[in-house]
Amino acid sequence: MTVMEKTRLLSFLEAQSQDAWLRALDEIGPSIHPVDREATRIWFAFWPLELNDALAESKDPKEPMEIARLMDLEGNWRLEEQLDSSVSFLYGAHYWARVKNAVLAEADAATGSLAATIRSIAQKIGAAERVDPSLVMGIAAVGLMMFRQIGFERIERSKDTKATPPLLPQDPAKVLARRERKSADGLFTFLKGVNRKWDVRWEEKRTDGVFRAINGQDLAMAGGDTGSDFRHLDYRRPAGPVPVECRVGSCGYCWVGLLAGRENLSPMTSFERERLRYFGYDAVNDIKDANPLIRLACQSQCQGDVTLTISPWNGELDRRHDEGRKKLGTA
Ligand code: FES
Repeated sequence: MTVMEKTRLLSFLEAQSQDAWLRALDEIGPSIHPVDREATRIWFAFWPLELNDALAESKDPKEPMEIARLMDLEGNWRLEEQLDSSVSFLYGAHYWARVKNAVLAEADAATGSLAATIRSIAQKIGAAERVDPSLVMGIAAVGLMMFRQIGFERIERSKDTKATPPLLPQDPAKVLARRERKSADGLFTFLKGVNRKWDVRWEEKRTDGVFRAINGQDLAMAGGDTGSDFRHLDYRRPAGPVPVECRVGSCGYCWVGLLAGRENLSPMTSFERERLRYFGYDAVNDIKDANPLIRLACQSQCQGDVTLTISPWNGELDRRHDEGRKKLGTA
């Protein structure tokens, strides 16, 4: 492959807006295996182009830190430090090294639409790994967006490293069955009355990655009731596995993606919708969807079992981004 071809793929991807990526996700959505359908969109919500482009605006290495401060970024918001760990909640992570190699090798795939490019790469990974392309369709999209955001050299340096373990079980049917399995209170609802408790799987790859929520309790409060300190995983988690600060929808620390059971949360209020928009977390949420993929844990009351994944960072993309650009003179 020539340098020109590598540049052609990157140039093609750089010409795609966030909306174009989301339209491509809509187009390929039915072709993504159910095990990764939600996870793929959640990854794209966690790593929006707006975050990448805001941080990349300045050529001065000190200024991304200044932009990060202005956007109130907390946690680990550097995708380049997490290229092998950010994908671990997807089933397709089993094929991550193959995905990186396929993206690097498939410069010619840039001749079609974005959706066609994703499909073409997924077909080739599927053929090489002898798996149905639907199982790698989502991770192929993630691989292309990763390439778009962190560039050829960084991907090439890590092209043979695998996704950071632990990973989901190799059998996708097992993953789906576990997400659909009801907790004991879900099975015997009629016996429990108001004392029902639900399972909240906050890390489905760990056997201990579950806490219990009293019926009607919000996810953040229920996580805090574990009484455990999770700062060894992330300094934003002093009280339970979900990052929290304000608990009233003000700080944006507690945003999560729902892998399963989103219909088991209280419907989104106009207040929560407005807060998600303010933070810039709502890219993949459907405005008409009362139970969307991305929620604030402190605003989501539990009414059944759910499986979620936690964003490694939080911040205020829109307002701070604009303020930062003005302050740095790049607006
Ligand atoms: S804890 Fe602050 S918004 Fe949820």
